[in-house]
Amino acid sequence: MPEEVLQQAASEMLDWHGSGMSVMEMSHRSKEFVSICESAEADFRELMAVPKHFKILFMQGGGLAENAIVPLNLSRGESADFVVTGSWSDKSQKEARKYCDVQIAASNESSDRTSLPPPASWNLRPQARYVHVCSNETIDGVEFQELPDLRALGTEAPLVIDFSSHVASRPVDWSKVGLAFGGAQKNLGPAGVTLVVVREDLLGHALPVCPSAFDYKIVANNHSMYNTPPTYAIYISGLTFQWLKHQKEGEANAQVWGVAAMEKRNIAKSQLLYGAIDRSQLYVNRVGKDCRSRMNVPFFLRDESRNEAFLAGAKTRGLLQLKGHKSVGGMRASIYNAMPLAGVAALVDYMQEFEKKHA
Ligand SMILES: Cc1ncc(COP(=O)(O)O)c(C=O)c1O
Repeated sequence: MPEEVLQQAASEMLDWHGSGMSVMEMSHRSKEFVSICESAEADFRELMAVPKHFKILFMQGGGLAENAIVPLNLSRGESADFVVTGSWSDKSQKEARKYCDVQIAASNESSDRTSLPPPASWNLRPQARYVHVCSNETIDGVEFQELPDLRALGTEAPLVIDFSSHVASRPVDWSKVGLAFGGAQKNLGPAGVTLVVVREDLLGHALPVCPSAFDYKIVANNHSMYNTPPTYAIYISGLTFQWLKHQKEGEANAQVWGVAAMEKRNIAKSQLLYGAIDRSQLYVNRVGKDCRSRMNVPFFLRDESRNEAFLAGAKTRGLLQLKGHKSVGGMRASIYNAMPLAGVAALVDYMQEFEKKHA
């Protein structure tokens, strides 16, 4: 979380804008909270240049619930194709099998999840109701640098992206997307709210068994207030959207703002870290250079017996949460939007010092 957002939330915690209430105490139908929610939606739309023919929904259940909610709404009980490029898309395809006929159109398993299968090689079925990709695989550190253009691949099926772990870190080309979903807890706000951006023509096809609270059309028609939404998480996400809109990068005559600025910063941060890893004798990242994640940088110590010492030394410097996901081991630096370049520089300094000491 950006520190400014936390500070603003702290200052407004007991009394939001003179209302005499904390946001937590407001009815979700009060004019105060409705204004918070409407501003959050409008700010996200502006920030991410979401076209008018997409709805922005604030839902609950996180990314994993969307693995069921998407097929419940889009599959019509028929078929869907999945590109499996890591742990999260693999989870998605497994869940979708409960609701429709799933085919794996492409996978990077043979490269041990270190590459992206080129879209031209995907085996897409003409009848598939949608094609799912995880645009940033958080655990494996594999990111699409460009979204696939399904129309150019000969299918009209909408592209569904799970952008949980890199939402708002770079612009999205909405002309290629039918639906995007992401839990807020990486780049937007606290856990509890799930953002769904869905093209209007995809609404209204939910299976009869789809819970009403998860039917996109019902959620959209009720402006994300069919049931009580996660009000505080929406409020904090809204503060983050405002923070993002005010971020800038570049010299006075070539300044970029908002998500374009975040992208520039994230490129600089990730290049600094990958460069240090690639130049070192001790650290290694095995992901192909064309699909390395700017957000999640998994790396390994060639001498794994030093892992605990590495983590302990990092902790003494305030470099936290570097232990890799339990399914892959090693280390992982999650350098989300709110991590400044200086934070990455501090990690690189530490890594170099550790390497020298243990050479
Ligand atoms: C890409 C991706 N998808 C889905 C999830 C699952 O999200 P949740 O825990 O919000 O259900 C995560 C969580 O880390 C993720 O990184």
